[in-house]
Amino acid sequence: MKMFITGGAGFIGSNFIFYMRKTHPDYDLVCLDKLTYAGNLETLAPVMNDPKFRFVRIDIAERKAVYDLFEAEKPDVVVNFAAESHVDRSIENPAVFLETNVMGTQVLLDACRIFGVSRFHQVSTDEVYGDLPLDRPDLFFTEQTPIHTSSPYSASKASADLLCNAYFRTYGLPITISRCSNNYGPYQFPEKLIPLMIANCTADKPLPVYGQGLNVRDWLYVEDHCSAIDLILQGGKEGLVYNIGGHNEMRNIDIVKLIVHALGKSEELITYVTDRKGHDMRYAIDPTFIHNELGWLPETKFENGIVKTIQWYLDNRPWWENIINGEYKTYYERMYGNR
Ligand code: NAD
Ligand code: DAU
Repeated sequence: MKMFITGGAGFIGSNFIFYMRKTHPDYDLVCLDKLTYAGNLETLAPVMNDPKFRFVRIDIAERKAVYDLFEAEKPDVVVNFAAESHVDRSIENPAVFLETNVMGTQVLLDACRIFGVSRFHQVSTDEVYGDLPLDRPDLFFTEQTPIHTSSPYSASKASADLLCNAYFRTYGLPITISRCSNNYGPYQFPEKLIPLMIANCTADKPLPVYGQGLNVRDWLYVEDHCSAIDLILQGGKEGLVYNIGGHNEMRNIDIVKLIVHALGKSEELITYVTDRKGHDMRYAIDPTFIHNELGWLPETKFENGIVKTIQWYLDNRPWWENIINGEYKTYYERMYGNR
């Protein structure tokens, strides 16, 4: 089995490589990654010398390079994590989101169609469903919830999902799609809520909470996302969408306070800043289908996962300090300087 894993130098992709290495030591894994600001080869250091792992620096939107690689390597399965993934950056500059998330996915789909694979799995997001109101805790996203996107990021992810469905229906390409809720865990880029708050808190810097901090996200430990994708690859039905989530809804402000307390800091660090444009209020996944069909259940409870995650960031300071001391400084100043 040879598996292409795109975006494997990022947060979830790298965790997926480690997960697959552990659970399927016989698989040949090839990581395809452009190494954008979010990709980090240091993350992959533990597998770099593994004879059954190979890293290829490539842009998934570069058709010729992608076709050449498919022709040379002939993958059996492709799992597409590669994406521009940060909503705030998509509000600032949507174009690159269309380039990678839409056009890049289309190039991969064409490569799969031309060279043949037994599965193309698209890693999508619950954000394609838009948001839910805070006053209707009885509502959840199911696989039947209509697509109703808010940000350029979610619009680009939804477009990619629609292309996958089109390639299934039109060309019979064996695709599956998963739509997961917010992930947390090791190796998450510090622009995202949890690592940003951990990094700022340890440095006694202000903790920028958007709006009133009342928005709700449904948090899942990254390894549980990886196990769900593995199950979909093994037993998922072609052409279907699988929602992934662990019923763990939390308000942003409660997450931030939890981090403040875990690190023994003062809530006075919390600073309410101008809200994100078009900010989705609540995400909440109904994971009944993947549970009933494939027996998937998350293993890590949030109270344990968040402790493990905070400890990981404390134990691996050079990993994220290298990032925040680099070009990220300019991003941070631009995004938060006058907020
Ligand atoms: P990330 O930003 O941490 O990593 C993205 C990776 O993709 C990076 O290594 C980057 O270098 C690579 N990449 C970007 N453009 C590329 C291109 N043109 N060609 C090749 N590689 C490219 O993202 P993440 O948080 O790990 O998310 C991975 C996937 O999971 C994304 O598709 C995202 O939409 C989806 N997702 C994320 C979450 C979450 O909470 N983080 C939840 C649900 C779904
Ligand atoms: O739901 C899945 C999605 O989760 C993925 O598809 C995205 O790739 C991923 O980035 C994530 O999107 P969010 O926008 O929910 O994640 P983020 O960490 O950026 O923000 C989480 C919440 O915290 C959101 O309501 C905005 C808020 N926030 C975020 C940052 C970075 C703040 O209040 N302050 C901040 O500084």
